[in-house]
Amino acid sequence: MISMCKMHLILTGNGTFLPCEPYVKGYFCIFAYWFNYKTAMQVNSAINQRYTFLSETTCCLSCGGAINYAKTQPGERCVDLGSGRGNDVIKMADEVGEHGFVYGIDISEGMIQKAKANLAKFEVENAMILKAELESLPLETDTIDCVISNCTINHAINKQAVWNEVYRILKAGGRFVVSDIYATSTIPDEYRNDPEAVAECWAGAVTRAEYLTMLEAAGFQNILIFEESKPYPKGKAEVASFTVYGEK
Ligand SMILES: C[S@@+](CC[C@H](N)C(=O)[O-])C[C@H]1O[C@@H](n2cnc3c(N)ncnc32)[C@H](O)[C@@H]1O
Repeated sequence: MISMCKMHLILTGNGTFLPCEPYVKGYFCIFAYWFNYKTAMQVNSAINQRYTFLSETTCCLSCGGAINYAKTQPGERCVDLGSGRGNDVIKMADEVGEHGFVYGIDISEGMIQKAKANLAKFEVENAMILKAELESLPLETDTIDCVISNCTINHAINKQAVWNEVYRILKAGGRFVVSDIYATSTIPDEYRNDPEAVAECWAGAVTRAEYLTMLEAAGFQNILIFEESKPYPKGKAEVASFTVYGEK
């Protein structure tokens, strides 16, 4: 907590860090950091609760066709962020073959157990499910060919940190294909700070412009939108889904 304050950084409502000064100083900085840490813990707990329940009842929670655009090749090393029950991990493991490898990343206990059971059931030996937060991926720098994700990054408290991590783990020339939702206008703070609403896949959404700005800030090039829905209501917001591609 203290070291964070010394860095003079504060996590803002849209999940990016800004310098504390001139916004806040001293003890207020410590309070702001503690408040955001507490919010992150509450959001992760709500996500764990919601998705552990859904792991038993719902097979597909996607909001686009990321995997269909990934064009995974034999021998590649791939990652699925928010791998849920492991369906896309299993598909990619089949595509990359015995010389490739796939990592699924998730934080919900129920989803992790279900995904591990599915890997065992289908005797998948070239894949692994890891428990980790998107903002801190337990993978080596410059080692991954392709990162996919489906309807997950909207949940992350610090989305810029997630995109920086995706950039870090990708090899030069590596790619991401991500399906996600964005909000058609800024989600009010009362919902953005509500852990259940964030876990429900809408209150954590940022606007399309903010989304694309984060990709550029992380360093991605050749950014393309493969598919995009019309706006639709979700929770107390209006959102749209898209599948976005970029290269390191
Ligand atoms: C909407 S589901 C999508 C699951 C899967 N990708 C699919 O298409 O069916 C979102 C998944 O992301 C996971 N998740 C949400 N926030 C996360 C975070 N911050 N770190 C890691 N996993 C997260 C959830 O546990 C859940 O399994």
